[in-house]
Amino acid sequence: MPLHSSPLATAPPVLAGRRPVGRRRLAGLAGLAMASLTLAACGGGGAGGGGGGGGEEAAAYPEDDITFVVPFSAGGPTDTVTRLVAEPMSKELGVPVVVQNVEGAGGTIAAGQVANAESDGYTVLMHHIGMSTAPSLYPDLAFDPLEDFKTVGLVTEVPMTIVARKDLEPDTLEELVTYLEENGEEVTLANAGVGAASQLCGLLLQDALDVKLTEVPYDGTGPALTDLVGGQVDVMCDQTTNTTGQIGSGKVKAYAVTTPERVESLPDLPTTEEAGLAELQVGVWHGLYVPAETPDAVVEKLTDALKVALADQNVVDQLADLGAAPSSAEDATPEAHTEQLSSQIDLWQPIIEEAGVSGS
Ligand code: MLT
Repeated sequence: MPLHSSPLATAPPVLAGRRPVGRRRLAGLAGLAMASLTLAACGGGGAGGGGGGGGEEAAAYPEDDITFVVPFSAGGPTDTVTRLVAEPMSKELGVPVVVQNVEGAGGTIAAGQVANAESDGYTVLMHHIGMSTAPSLYPDLAFDPLEDFKTVGLVTEVPMTIVARKDLEPDTLEELVTYLEENGEEVTLANAGVGAASQLCGLLLQDALDVKLTEVPYDGTGPALTDLVGGQVDVMCDQTTNTTGQIGSGKVKAYAVTTPERVESLPDLPTTEEAGLAELQVGVWHGLYVPAETPDAVVEKLTDALKVALADQNVVDQLADLGAAPSSAEDATPEAHTEQLSSQIDLWQPIIEEAGVSGS
């Protein structure tokens, strides 16, 4: 099924040859900033009505298009993972999946909007490790990750790479460490805002080196990487789902990957441990969420469709090409996802408190 994207008009999109996407569900996402629309066409037609709520509605679910909300810019790593699983999930569910980018505040704007969307299964959030760091970074966070959502299941865990503009002098991580220590705030560090995985990794890097760089926030590491390739910023820590292509083409310089083992798709890239920075290890886990009152029968259908997508050979192959792998069937469950989210919230709280970083 072709995935295609077109700029989303301010009004809810009228899909080619189809009636307007359910207005009530988009109301929860009203005031969207930039948004790009990708329609995963599918076999089944969207019938009228639909939605969560009572048993019969949950039993009939889905009857309409489903919106997958991505809390960062189009073209970035979260967007890439979402579009990869959206297509097979759309086929399995028998309705179109519309991918919508809602940017800002390190992903917390989108999460807050989905928390308040209708609990009918037609608005789903794709988010990553940032869901577990947000409570520590944003004291006045508009939502509680554990109370205001139901988890659907884990999707994948993505390694991060330390990369730089291709003409930055250091050639090894050891040389980069010296460069950062010597140049400090003269060095610009791109990220996707407080709460983003790139910001967390940059925080860990600065903490490990006891240096302070000048952070340059973007609405996603898609546009940040564009500026890194263009030489407008100096360094970034970003996911292999975004950097693999640019590393392979030599458009950015890569120093290390933040996983215990090397990544098959980047065999020449040493791990941070090999390169002498063992304390910098972080993987970006992703999961799907729905508003807390979504009927369990609806969540179950989404979980089942997620498992089918994660077993899809195209998804497996494309994630492997980008240095990642799908979560196991055991981890693609609400139970495993909730356990991961809860334990990660506890893990990052003291680290972020110690670093004294806040998003507001
Ligand atoms: C993105 O999709 O742009 C990234 O996940 C942002 C981030 O978390 O660094």
